[in-house]
Formats: sequence, structure tokens, C-alpha cells
Amino acid sequence: MAQLNPNLRDGFGSKLGVIAAAAGSAVGLGNIWRFPYVVGQNGGGAFLLVYLLFILVIGVPVMLSEFVVGRRSQRNALGAFKKLAPGTYWHVIGIMGIGAAFFILSFYTTVSGWTLEYLVFSLSSSFEGKDKEELNVMFEQFRMSGLKPLIYQMIFMFFTAFIVFKGVKNGIEKYTKLLMPALLLIIVVLCVRAVTLPGAGQGLVFLFKPDFMKITGDVVLQALGQAFFSLSIGMGALITYGSYINSENNLSNSAFSVTLTDTLVAVLAGVAIFPAVFAFGIQPEAGPGLVFITLPMIFEQMAGGYFFSLIFFLLLVIAALTSTISVLEVVVAYVSEELGMNRKKATVLSAISISVLGIFCTLSQGPMPEIHIGNRNLFDILEFVSANIMLPLGGLLIVLFVGWYMKKDEVFDEISNKNKLKVRFKWLYLYIIKFVAPVAIALVFLNGLGFFGAFSN
Ligand code: PHE
Repeated sequence: MAQLNPNLRDGFGSKLGVIAAAAGSAVGLGNIWRFPYVVGQNGGGAFLLVYLLFILVIGVPVMLSEFVVGRRSQRNALGAFKKLAPGTYWHVIGIMGIGAAFFILSFYTTVSGWTLEYLVFSLSSSFEGKDKEELNVMFEQFRMSGLKPLIYQMIFMFFTAFIVFKGVKNGIEKYTKLLMPALLLIIVVLCVRAVTLPGAGQGLVFLFKPDFMKITGDVVLQALGQAFFSLSIGMGALITYGSYINSENNLSNSAFSVTLTDTLVAVLAGVAIFPAVFAFGIQPEAGPGLVFITLPMIFEQMAGGYFFSLIFFLLLVIAALTSTISVLEVVVAYVSEELGMNRKKATVLSAISISVLGIFCTLSQGPMPEIHIGNRNLFDILEFVSANIMLPLGGLLIVLFVGWYMKKDEVFDEISNKNKLKVRFKWLYLYIIKFVAPVAIALVFLNGLGFFGAFSN
């Protein structure tokens, strides 16, 4: 392992920088593209309720635990466990995390590429005068065209690598501090437009009124996977970012602020999208195409549509970029610290190798649907396996690590900044990560995968 001088380690310069970067990681396509379509497919309000419950009882403690591991160890997602638990197998958490980073970035850059293309479509008024069918064809044609989505995906990967290349303070922190406020502003503008559409009420009812009959084992697993995916937890992205947080930062406050921002943006995205979906008579179960096929139609039909579609796709691009950099950083931090490669080289190498899997992922969504297993293509498999299996499993192991392996005093020391802060809920936190979170994750997991047979659905 490369020896590190802690004084030379790059890191975040300010409290706001920490929140911008970590919230930038959390807020992404997961909130704006994935959350609405998953809510739509899983019955609306009831799903939202289960999701919010998971965010609170599992999300916050897992996030705090990642920060604890990261800051305590001052290492990347894998090195952290080697340092805190030498000679044990705990570092498999890191190995799985790096694997998850490969998977996530592959399909994520596919969709990010679409957002870039749709930004260009918006700019050139390509949606103008098209009805739902024509917009459908437009999406299909673009996806099937082979080369174009790949080019956009590569452009997106290039932007991501560019920021990571620049480093933590002068790259990640600088850009997220600039991009995150813009994102929040844009989403609020969109919400105001959506709720003032005629017939908006029905969409809000769908989103907020729970129908408990719709809750099944699968719905609960989807909610858990969505909570992990949306908060960027369970794969070491926040261990890596945690290692860049300085010793003065209040980790629990940061975890709360990031979770709150992420949840707010997801709910706001729902508020922006569902009223419009219902106002124009679109099926909420439309799936991954919800944003790309139906929203252009909504923009097409509403006053100021050109403007709104432009800012919406700009929003998606920004949100995606501040997340992809955090995923790439997991791999880059590992390669540069553990394999001793210089950071710039590590960035280029990691981006290129992930792109190889990414290319197949994009092709499986387009001209090469034969890249599949059963009825899922490569894209769907990577999305399902990473969000619904690898992240919850990683999160489970992380809370077990902090709750059972790390010494209690060490953990308290870290969340209280060596007793400088009074943390009133530290026992509650410990109780949750020792018992509540692991049991909850394990149950949801087994139930969702059908282990309880008759009881699952
Ligand atoms: N949280 C990001 C989003 O919602 C995705 C992500 C997952 C980023 C895991 C980093 C790690 O889009």
C-alpha cells in the first residue's frame, strides 16, 4: 500500500463544500429520473411513505457510518477497512463498492448521455409540433441509432473525468458549490409551473395519498433500493468523501443536511412531474421513459414550454454530473492510494475502463438488445443488481462494521469530534446501527427476493 502523508492529502476546504459535494452526489438522476418512475410503477403515495421511513431509520445512520469510517481512516473505500481492520476480511465491503461503482457508472452514463442529447433537442426546438407517438419514435430512433448515444455518453464521461482530474478542492468542491444552488433554483421554478397546471391536484393525490393495499414485498425492496441509490450510500462513495472532511466538521449535521436536501429534491421532482403527468393524461407507470418521452410532450403543450424544457434538461445534466464525479472518485481514490498510481493517470485509466462496460450497457438499451439475461438487458441487470442488491448489502455490512467491529469509544470519538460536540442521540445511533438497521435491511432483502414465500406478495 502506498504510504500517505496526511498533510498532503487533498480535501474539502469548507463546511459548505462538504455539503455541496455530498449532496451533489446524492441528488442526481436517482431523484429526478429514477424516483418518479419508480414511484409511478410502485403505486404512488404508499411507496413514498415506505421510502421516507427507510430514509430516516436506515439512510441517515448508514450515511453517518460511512462518514465515520471515511474520516477516521483518511482512506478510500477499500483502504479504509484495511486500515481500521487490518488482517480481516472487512475490506470485501470496499471491493464490492468498487464493483458497484463500475456497474452504476456504466448505466448512469448511458442515461446521462440521453440527458445531454435531450438538452440539445430542447435547444433546437426538436419537440415542437410532435405528439406523443412522434416523441416516442424520436426517443426510440435516438436510442437505436447506435453511435449517437455512445458519443453523448463519452462526452459525459469526459466532463466527469475532467472534474475528478482537477482534484477534490479545486475540482469537485468548486464545481458542486456552483452547480447545486442552480439546481435547487431550477427545480423550485418547475414545481411552481407544475402545480399551477389545470388538473394538477390528481397528480398530488397520486404522490401523497397512500393506498396501503399496494405495498408488497417487491415494493418494499424497491423502496429500500431507491433509498440507498438516492442517498449514494452502501458503496463507499461517502466513505471516500468522508475521508476528505476535516476534523472540525460535525458529521451528524452533515449527514442530516445531505439527507434532507436529497429527500427534498426527490419530493420536489415528484411534485414537478406528477401533476403534469395527470394533467396531460399520461400513465404514471410509463417506466424509465417517463422523463424522456412524456415530459417533452408536456413541455410541448404548456405555455413557456421551450424555456421549461431547456431548464429541465439542464437540471438533469447538472444533477447527473455532480453524482457521476462521486462514483468515479471512489475508483480513482482507490487506484491512486492503494495501487500508488498518480491521480491524473488513475482518473484517465478508470474512466476508460468503466466506459468499456458503459458502451455495452448503452448498446443493450439500443441496437443490441441481445446483450441480456432472461428478460432483462445488461442495462436493467446492472441497475437492478447495483441498486437493489449491492448497495443494501454494502450498507448492511457497513453498519455491522461500525456497530459491532469498531470500538464504541472510537465511534463516539468520531461523531463528537473528540468530545468537543455534545451528541445527544449517540446511544440511539448505536442502537440503530447495531440492531434496527441490520435487521430491517436483512428482512426487506430476503422478503423482496421471495425468501418468505407465501408472505412476500
Ligand atoms: N445518488 C445518486 C443519484 O441519486 C446516484 C449514486 C448512487 C451516486 C451511488 C453515488 C453512489 O442519482
